[in-house]
Amino acid sequence: MRKKIVAGNWKMNMNLQDGIALAKELNETLKADKPNCGVVICTPFIHLASIAQFLDQDIIGLGAENCADKEKGAFTGEVSAEMVKSTGAQYVILGHSERREYYKETPEILKEKVLLAQKNDLKVIFCIGESLEEREAGKQNEVVKAELEGSVFNLSEEDFRKIVIAYEPIWAIGTGKTATAEQAEEIHAYIRSIIAEKYGQAVADDTTILYGGSCKASNAPELFAKPDIDGGLIGGASLKAADFKGIIDAW
Ligand code: G3H
Repeated sequence: MRKKIVAGNWKMNMNLQDGIALAKELNETLKADKPNCGVVICTPFIHLASIAQFLDQDIIGLGAENCADKEKGAFTGEVSAEMVKSTGAQYVILGHSERREYYKETPEILKEKVLLAQKNDLKVIFCIGESLEEREAGKQNEVVKAELEGSVFNLSEEDFRKIVIAYEPIWAIGTGKTATAEQAEEIHAYIRSIIAEKYGQAVADDTTILYGGSCKASNAPELFAKPDIDGGLIGGASLKAADFKGIIDAW
């Protein structure tokens, strides 16, 4: 059975004090009422070391939202995978559409980031997904396939098995416009089929594929009921403990 996961991506929200308060609230809530799925929170870099000190990582995994494509050195302002790992974090989100679009992260750059993250024993949540224009042109399958081929299909089977995929249609991110459960299932099944072509059915069956894009407590049950949707990568609704818990409870 592949792992079910609900992961939060705080993006550039929460100052240190507010972030610590949210993580503490989640920690207490989920310790008292254990989730039926894996839970991860991915926070800005500055929160990681503080949160790692009190978070019960048997219940809530901790991750960064990015890491550098270089190992170390004169790269002012960058944070390496090794630095992320040294905070006590276990995960890192890579390939988010906001990084691809606003910071021009190419498949080649992302390939380097994935390699460095894995070299430092970070579990990668790798994001893929098409724009509205690409969806309207019927190119969504082509886009997600190219994104996988460009940055993670170079991995050995053993290393690919450590990757969590997050399918996030760009047109559904922060827009309130969710892909229907049917639309999401269709492309999740396609993603699983191309993983099967590349690595075999057993690997595909074991790969966790999350859905992201305006996922909230009200639509999570319908999305998570689909056979190829193994949880969610949650932006806006991960910023309040009650909203996030509502999604976790959909499992
Ligand atoms: O990483 C999370 C996604 O970008 C989804 O964000 O839930 O605010 O639409 P959202």
